[in-house]
Amino acid sequence: MRCPRASKLSQRNPPLATSRTAKAKMLKTPLHEAESARSFFLLHKPFLAGHGTASLPVRRRQSFHTKKQKKSSVRFVSRNIIKAEVSSTTSTTEKSIKVKAIVTVQVTVGGFFSNLGLTRGLDDISDLLGKSLLLELVSANLDPKSGREKATVKDYALRLGQEENEVKYESDFVVPPDFGDIGAILVENEHHKEMFIKNIVLDGFPNGTVNVSCDSWVHSKFDNPEKRIFFTNKSYLPSDTPDGLKRMREKELEILRGTGVGERKTFERIYDYDKYNDLGDPDSKEELARPVLGGKEHPYPRRCRTGREPTVKDPLSESRSSSVYVPRDEAFSEVKQLTFSVKALSSVLNALLPSIETALIDSDLGFPYFTAIDSLFNEGANLPKPENLGFFQSILSWLVKLFKDGGDDLFQFETPEMIDRDKFSWFRDEEFSRQTLAGLNPYSIELVTEWPLKSKLDPKIYGPAESAITREVIEQEIKGVMTLDEAIEGKKLFILDYHDLFLPYVYKVREIEGTTLYGSRTLFFLTHDCTLRPLAIELTRPAGNDKPQWRQVFTSNWDATSCWLWRLAKAHVNAHDSGYHQLVIHWLRTHCSCEPYIIAANRQLSAMHPIYRLLLPHFRYTMEINALARESLINGGGIIETSFSPGKYSMELSSVAYDQLWRFDMEALPADLIRRGMAVKDPKAKHGLKLTIADYPFANDGLDLWAAIKQWVSDYVNHYYPEPSLIESDQELQDWWTEVRTKGHEDKKDEPWWPVLKTQADLTHILTTIIWVVSGHHAAVNFGQYIYAGYFPNRPTITRTNMPTEEPSETEFLNFLKKPEFALLKCFPSQIQATKVMAVLEVLSNHSPDEEYIGDAMEPSWAECPIIKAAFERFSGSLKELEGLIDARNADINLKNRFGAGIVPYELLKPVSKPGVTGMGVPNSISI
Ligand SMILES: [Fe+2]
Repeated sequence: MRCPRASKLSQRNPPLATSRTAKAKMLKTPLHEAESARSFFLLHKPFLAGHGTASLPVRRRQSFHTKKQKKSSVRFVSRNIIKAEVSSTTSTTEKSIKVKAIVTVQVTVGGFFSNLGLTRGLDDISDLLGKSLLLELVSANLDPKSGREKATVKDYALRLGQEENEVKYESDFVVPPDFGDIGAILVENEHHKEMFIKNIVLDGFPNGTVNVSCDSWVHSKFDNPEKRIFFTNKSYLPSDTPDGLKRMREKELEILRGTGVGERKTFERIYDYDKYNDLGDPDSKEELARPVLGGKEHPYPRRCRTGREPTVKDPLSESRSSSVYVPRDEAFSEVKQLTFSVKALSSVLNALLPSIETALIDSDLGFPYFTAIDSLFNEGANLPKPENLGFFQSILSWLVKLFKDGGDDLFQFETPEMIDRDKFSWFRDEEFSRQTLAGLNPYSIELVTEWPLKSKLDPKIYGPAESAITREVIEQEIKGVMTLDEAIEGKKLFILDYHDLFLPYVYKVREIEGTTLYGSRTLFFLTHDCTLRPLAIELTRPAGNDKPQWRQVFTSNWDATSCWLWRLAKAHVNAHDSGYHQLVIHWLRTHCSCEPYIIAANRQLSAMHPIYRLLLPHFRYTMEINALARESLINGGGIIETSFSPGKYSMELSSVAYDQLWRFDMEALPADLIRRGMAVKDPKAKHGLKLTIADYPFANDGLDLWAAIKQWVSDYVNHYYPEPSLIESDQELQDWWTEVRTKGHEDKKDEPWWPVLKTQADLTHILTTIIWVVSGHHAAVNFGQYIYAGYFPNRPTITRTNMPTEEPSETEFLNFLKKPEFALLKCFPSQIQATKVMAVLEVLSNHSPDEEYIGDAMEPSWAECPIIKAAFERFSGSLKELEGLIDARNADINLKNRFGAGIVPYELLKPVSKPGVTGMGVPNSISI
């Protein structure tokens, strides 16, 4: 049985009417019944919001409704609660229905209930007068006689009182018997400040309670006279929309789409597209000019349009702002603690990092000894107390162990779990390899299928295409266990390939002071116990700048010099992997690529569309965190540029990766694994895929999670779309998907690989892919950041010096021979780079106390449909099973990539977590 369809109530009589003021424009009025009651609207409401519509600005009763006047009185009770008492309540017609509405409003830091601001007093008075929140019930049905929308039933809601962080408002309506089902509620906020409405519950209807989940900011009518509309929790495909709601469904989407002009204001809810043209700041400094990402030259996904003025020096770039617009409901709700992670990130970026910069005057200073790195965890570093911390102070207290009072303060990091378990693991080759399968970036390792390894770049520019890693090198390193051909045939050879992507940027990057770059290839051999062993690293500098090509193959030999060169080469590869992880695997493939899905969904899918309701929990906070990233992380001169090897070319490189590599169809986990040769289709295998490396923790857990999501989505889709024709005829759905491809990912709109959207299977696959990327994919590459990169020698974000064998001066090489440890420390990030990145990674790895995990909480609209409710409960159950399965795998001595002495168990895809830096937990959405 398909869920919610509005029952058609008989509509024998015209409705109770409503009217409007000139100021407060209704959402749309032209079809409303015509009788005016202007004089009522101009009157102030007396001290009452009692039962029915007696004292309200409703129009006169129709002659066929008999209604006696009420006499009301008001008494003040403590805590400003006003209660209306009806001294001689009389009924309306016998068939009218008395309905009570309870509105729950969240107390927020910056909203109406904030104690800040001059308007608070005025708003309190409005509350006392009972004229602060106007509700109008909207019928789902048209008037059968006129064929027009029925007049709404309206009433002011009266503030009852506050409990903890919630304030309740109450309203009593008398609904005419022929009103039909309630389809929506119009809300007008007559306070001077916005308010955050959680929900509205209507009690008293014969068919039971009507729930309206809002979770939305409602603007002040003084900012925007347009009333807000909230549809009930019943979901409708466009073709099923009750007649009385059709116009409002379209109108609401028009509002959300906006007109595409003007600068967006904070209270607005407009979703629109723009290029990434706000990363640079050419007006501030010439060197902060950055290319526009998006368009033919630098293809890129689109971000949310803010409409700010262009910069003076570059009309194609948008001026920067310290407060980047996102549609109001995408912003963090500002409820105490609810914004934990992002506020913490904001405080780290805006308060702590400047403090670190102040303390470390020499920006090039590296760590003099390895013990100096350890002291960041053991003893702390002196740091001037950050200024202007305000209430961020309490948020920061968990980040740093201690800020002592008086004088300079001690700034101390938590020891990352990896180092806590095994202080020397970062040094070992086994751990270097293991992390390609179970670490922070399990997305880059690939099977070698062809030999010799060849570059696709132009050899005339970049030098010989063929790799310097020869057959002999491989066979020597695998010690004659098998030949190279047998290794390739037996799927034993794997690669981290950062050659072609980085090579064109080597000279550009080397022009930036304090950094360097190579193209790299790292080869691994799969041993009999399913672990990888690194064989060789090739570092390449192409020909250019009047220099010939330079490249060298490093192996882990037994002599001391080779060992130290190997360690240095590993540092370069780790920096490549670290940059690729952050710029491509994390930022581009999750945060950045998903913003268009959110924008398109809000522009094209009604809030009452079942697919919108399926996706909504998976969009939480993403646009806000992305806006913050544009403001302070990925911007010109921001953390990424100043701390990662590619420097100011970082974002441009992510554009190159988008151009060359990003494909929607390959974002599905099974397709991604197959593309990298890490799995093949096998109908007999679990989930129909046989893994090339059986103990591949990310893939093992990921495929289970993928399958659970797919089943839930399939159940959901098949319930709402029993026939494929319903998918093709669903105009909102088709428009959403078209817009994702043609506007959100406009630079890839003509690619042949976009999935078509015709059948239930098509829709299930598209939605599963999106939900996987924002949940499993993001969690796997986000929440291990501090564990694996908090101790930066394990994953330096930048290497600052060339290999000592690349055209060294005699002194440089002698220094390397004399103190190789110092050469490594000099190559690693500077103190300022390392500590800034550590602070940011710790916040990014943190789960806030209000985190919403996948399969954990049922959406109210799902709960109202028994079939969907049961499907979600199955989904939730399957994720609980996955928890147990992951625990069991981590305890299995045979799975050496996740079990062993000092090894961090692979828990990144365990669905649920406690708050904090836990290295587990899959949130519904990209929320940090
Ligand atoms: Fe993230």
